[in-house]
Amino acid sequence: MISIKNVTKKFPTVTALDNISLDIKEKEFFGLLGPNGAGKSTLMNLIIGYLDADEGELTVAGEKVTRNNLESRKKIGLVPQSIALYDDISAQENLEIFGSFFGIKKNLLRAVIAENLNRVELYDRRKDKVKGFSGGMKRRLNIAASLLHDPEILLCDEPTVGVDPQSRNAIFDYLEKLNEEGKTIIYTTHYMEEAERLCSRIAIIDHGKIIGAGSLDELLLLLPYEQTILISKNQLTEHKKDLFGKFGTILNDQEKYELKPFEKLKLSDFFKAMEENGIGYNFIDVNKPSLEALFLHLTGRRLRD
Ligand SMILES: Nc1ncnc2c1ncn2[C@@H]1O[C@H](COP(=O)(O)OP(=O)(O)O)[C@@H](O)[C@H]1O
Ligand SMILES: [Mg+2]
Repeated sequence: MISIKNVTKKFPTVTALDNISLDIKEKEFFGLLGPNGAGKSTLMNLIIGYLDADEGELTVAGEKVTRNNLESRKKIGLVPQSIALYDDISAQENLEIFGSFFGIKKNLLRAVIAENLNRVELYDRRKDKVKGFSGGMKRRLNIAASLLHDPEILLCDEPTVGVDPQSRNAIFDYLEKLNEEGKTIIYTTHYMEEAERLCSRIAIIDHGKIIGAGSLDELLLLLPYEQTILISKNQLTEHKKDLFGKFGTILNDQEKYELKPFEKLKLSDFFKAMEENGIGYNFIDVNKPSLEALFLHLTGRRLRD
């Protein structure tokens, strides 16, 4: 659906995207995960054709994207990173303006606006000025605006920044529904929890380069080990160090015992042995692998640094 081949985009002082290649399939919920300044918004702007690439090629549904190609742009809705709405007019009036940008016929526009306001649960507030809206309501209205022309592809650029938790969940549910109904979604975020929850495939981007891409499970395989077991260090467990060695390799014994389990270890066997030796569950933590750990592994930095 979207093909990005060896794309480079330079600004005067920085290479925002450095030889990026990605394929995004139809109906995918695709995540673009990376810290601030990684190049996420630049890539969104290239896909919708607001910017031209310096090198490489971008196609949407087989058609080459350029700033002058308005055909490919019709297939795309963009929810921009910074909310773009007129504060001094109502929600309804905002959507009327966006609708006319998209060239939606007057006789259809009323129904289209009503439907989209309903779907983001703002129909009852349609006559209120946007300036009284919460961050979450503005974001929902911005999403509605980007969908008026019923695009096949929705680009969401950090849509939960500045949004309260309740609206955040409403936005997640709504996007998931849109995806189930067949829309291809690209979702940028620096919150790995969001990428983990929403996206069927994820590309991790840093300093303009894709440093890993795949399903969550595929990405986590890039970690040198999948799972570690942490055991508190105290008088009791210090006597049992040899026992831990039967279940895995002890990577670290400074503050806690960090155990890398042997490949075929069944956690149930491990817990049974611990129990038999009087080491309760409260002494043990099993580390779930995470995108955060993967990012740290690949870059040596945390996502939010
Ligand atoms: N219009 C622009 N002019 C100059 N530099 C830009 C412009 N847009 C983005 N950049 C720079 O390109 C890099 C990537 O920015 P951006 O795509 O906004 O990252 P992200 O969305 O991941 O935070 C940053 O170093 C940013 O400062
Ligand atoms: Mg951005």
